[in-house]
Amino acid sequence: MYSEDELERGLTTQVFGRRLFIYDSIDSTNTCAKIFANKGAEEGTVVIADYQTAGRGRFGRTWLAESGSNLLFSIIIRPTYSTDKIGLLPFFVAVGIANAVETVTGMQCECKWPNDILINKKKCCGILMESTSQQNNFDYAIIGIGLNVNQKEFIGDLEGIATSLSSEGGREFDRRNVFSQIMSSLESYYTDVRKGDFNTALKEWKARATIFGKRITLTQAADVIDGIAINLAADGGLVVETETGQRVFHAGDVTIAQQ
Ligand code: BTN
Repeated sequence: MYSEDELERGLTTQVFGRRLFIYDSIDSTNTCAKIFANKGAEEGTVVIADYQTAGRGRFGRTWLAESGSNLLFSIIIRPTYSTDKIGLLPFFVAVGIANAVETVTGMQCECKWPNDILINKKKCCGILMESTSQQNNFDYAIIGIGLNVNQKEFIGDLEGIATSLSSEGGREFDRRNVFSQIMSSLESYYTDVRKGDFNTALKEWKARATIFGKRITLTQAADVIDGIAINLAADGGLVVETETGQRVFHAGDVTIAQQ
């Protein structure tokens, strides 16, 4: 369980996390953050919970995380540029988190397209971005972050695929410390991103990506596409050289065929 005081004391940010809503248990921090955003909550507002009864992942999947062991939170942002850049937002978030995790744990993070973070090839963090807009202008975007911190066991579909900071680092980590590092790191990247400048975030994301130049399989519902990952497109899509030429994808699950 978090106390507001403890979380606030660790923060060195000006905006991110300065307005905090803390829950022991909630359906989904993203769902709750949307309600606050619709009521006008300011940029940087965070909803954080110890446990989610209906945590959501990409493609309508369920996000399962043990109570009291992990970081489950959502941040409200209100970008002022057009929604053309929406596909770039997850990259700044992934880099911000990777940077914070590396600082706290000393372990190297890998960024996996479009928005996963891996340690030793296993997923420790997922990001769910949701936004609403009117005529190409954002009302708000919700950055939902699920970071496995001290969870030890991953069962069922997650076995062998998911991990946590403690599983990889061999010790427990203070969730409040990890949280405040993430807030600082995200806020520092957001200074540029807020103005629509993603250059630094994209450069650092690419430096942590291992996909480029490799043969991959991209799965989109029933479609399975094989090819070589070439680059990121200007809008954040993945450029893949396929049998029928270069194609750009904006969603999907990627596996690397050759490591
Ligand atoms: C994914 O990899 O599929 C994204 C997972 C995102 C999970 C986080 S946990 C906090 C926030 N609230 C949710 O319901 N989902 C996100």
